[in-house]
Amino acid sequence: MRIAGIDIGGTSIKVGVFDGDMLVHKDSRKTPFDSPDAVCDLIADMLLGQNIQLAGVGTAGSVESFSDTVSASNLGWEGVPLRRMLTERLGVPVWVDNDAQAAIMAEWHDGVCRGAECAVYLTLGTGIGGAMIVAGKPYRGKNNLGAEFGHMIIHPDGPRCVCGRRGCLEYYASATALKRMAGGLSCRTIIDRAKAGDKAMLDVFDAFIRELCIGMNTLIMVFDPEYIVLGGGLSGAGEFLAERCQRELERIFADTTDPLYCRVRIARHKNDAGIIGAALLARENLL
Ligand code: BGC
Repeated sequence: MRIAGIDIGGTSIKVGVFDGDMLVHKDSRKTPFDSPDAVCDLIADMLLGQNIQLAGVGTAGSVESFSDTVSASNLGWEGVPLRRMLTERLGVPVWVDNDAQAAIMAEWHDGVCRGAECAVYLTLGTGIGGAMIVAGKPYRGKNNLGAEFGHMIIHPDGPRCVCGRRGCLEYYASATALKRMAGGLSCRTIIDRAKAGDKAMLDVFDAFIRELCIGMNTLIMVFDPEYIVLGGGLSGAGEFLAERCQRELERIFADTTDPLYCRVRIARHKNDAGIIGAALLARENLL
């Protein structure tokens, strides 16, 4: 059976076609911002001739279970009936979920939080996506809108986030934030230079880590997870990122009587976790 995994992000759209567990086709294109129809047309084009039987989607934004629609500030979408739109174009059953919810499924299935009882996932990309496993099960909240950790307010008087709130974690600790903090340099340049010991870039990166760890500290104190898994584009920074987060958390916890058990890990599937998890969710929910 051939299943498509589709990851709709604020920068790119990635598709993967899986034959059983094998990734047999992969493509990535820039996200069009014209309309949800343009996104769906592009996806249909990327999957043309792939002979798929099912499709799973992980999209930026909230996927309401009761109305079966997607709202995504990063894409400029409100109440978009994505499942219906893609079913019409692809001609196969489609499962639609939040992108971080999809990604955590891949890591929980055979990645760095495999089988965990309690784990938190953060995608660090255009925005910050969140998902979690609680008591050995994915946690989605009452309306499938839970775990949006990117919109925890960490500086109440801070600038406005794309979501409309002020001072969200996403504003300070997404890939977009890192870029802004370095005057518009690409994340790859910032990380490469920081890794090579460039003092200015190390300072920027460490300031970014401090913001990210304000959010992580809250997540640890509220949920006591075994792991915080980092995915999304920035997970390409690998151990350089994970180790610095762990060190910053140790610094925060050193001033308290609280033990720090949580480990920060980089998603095994890195930026492919979204397409893998979306295909897994389609198989699990549509077969
Ligand atoms: C959205 C989330 C999404 C994340 C990553 C955030 O701005 O609110 O729903 O998971 O970006 O794409």
